[in-house]
Amino acid sequence: MADGTGVGVTAVDVTAESPYQVLVGHGVLDQLSQLCGDRARRVAVIHPPTLINVAARVEAKLSSAGLEPVRIDVPDAEAAKTAAVAATCWSVFGTAGFTRSDVVIGLGGGATTDLTGFVAATWLRGVRLITVPTTVLGMVDAAVGGKTGINTPEGKNLVGCFYEPAGVLCDLDVLASLPAAELVSGLGEVVKCGFIADPEILSLVEGDPTGVRSAGSAVLREAIERSIRVKATVVSGDLRESTSSGTRVGRELLNYGHTLGHAIERREKYRWRHGEAISVGMVFAAELSRLAGRLDPQLVDRHVRALELVGLPVSYRAGVLDELLATMALDKKTRGSTLRFVVLDALAKASILEGPPPELIAAAYERVSSQ
Ligand code: GLY
Repeated sequence: MADGTGVGVTAVDVTAESPYQVLVGHGVLDQLSQLCGDRARRVAVIHPPTLINVAARVEAKLSSAGLEPVRIDVPDAEAAKTAAVAATCWSVFGTAGFTRSDVVIGLGGGATTDLTGFVAATWLRGVRLITVPTTVLGMVDAAVGGKTGINTPEGKNLVGCFYEPAGVLCDLDVLASLPAAELVSGLGEVVKCGFIADPEILSLVEGDPTGVRSAGSAVLREAIERSIRVKATVVSGDLRESTSSGTRVGRELLNYGHTLGHAIERREKYRWRHGEAISVGMVFAAELSRLAGRLDPQLVDRHVRALELVGLPVSYRAGVLDELLATMALDKKTRGSTLRFVVLDALAKASILEGPPPELIAAAYERVSSQ
């Protein structure tokens, strides 16, 4: 397994409404002060308690660049995405006197960067935002693409807005302390990018499944960079998820495996990690595609193989489809009146399957059911 260190910084351009770059590499955190811009004075660093050491390092770097860092410690994971936590952040900004030229940094996983994006977008109608994702999932998905938001008791991400960062720093060094199960969960989104857009990612995963699970490996770095490019291309073409219509796929492409995946996450009360749930969701979507006569069975098998190779689940409980369908029906309210699935017609060629017959859904679910 090659060592992925010391090979410089990779820049991926996102060119939607306010162009910015995603920088990937070892030690890219060093670029943080520069990215804050010339006008900044105060810089909020929003982070969960688990990242206190990295946050303290960031604080020291900002101070030595003459900036005034203000650390804001928020709860871990989804517990950060509440109106109460957002209000705490606004209150800190107000007390510290944050102006329009100051900066907000989100340092953490997807939940932290979603919350941070939302409070940055809403403080004084929008201040400079920098995201520093510290998980594979955050790097390849949440931190890139401008979706921000918090949850309400009625559901996830019901309050939020599109707000693009000024830059995203993916420092591969921070992955060294990521728990193995978290890293593997992020690979669910990586494998997704392989199936929907960049099959070379699948070759990387299949060629070196151990390497791709190892923080610091060259193969993981390449898989992350390729996945970021997939996301950057998709969101650059459809930032606001508005070009999917009928069977045309825009940003909705990124939801491959997510219709069933979200329902599983909800049924499991979010004890399943996102990547685990969408892993089953992708096999289900592939089965739907096959049963609808669109996808070669060998590609369905390839889903199972690739996901199992990285250690992700490919089946879920039998006998709970009705429950899952009820949740999917709630989900569909945000997308229109019929149940929509992103499906594959071939490798890297997606389309939309709208309102499939219940027998087709049941048959596909049967194929992913465990006992
Ligand atoms: N996570 C899906 C999206 O950013 O659209």
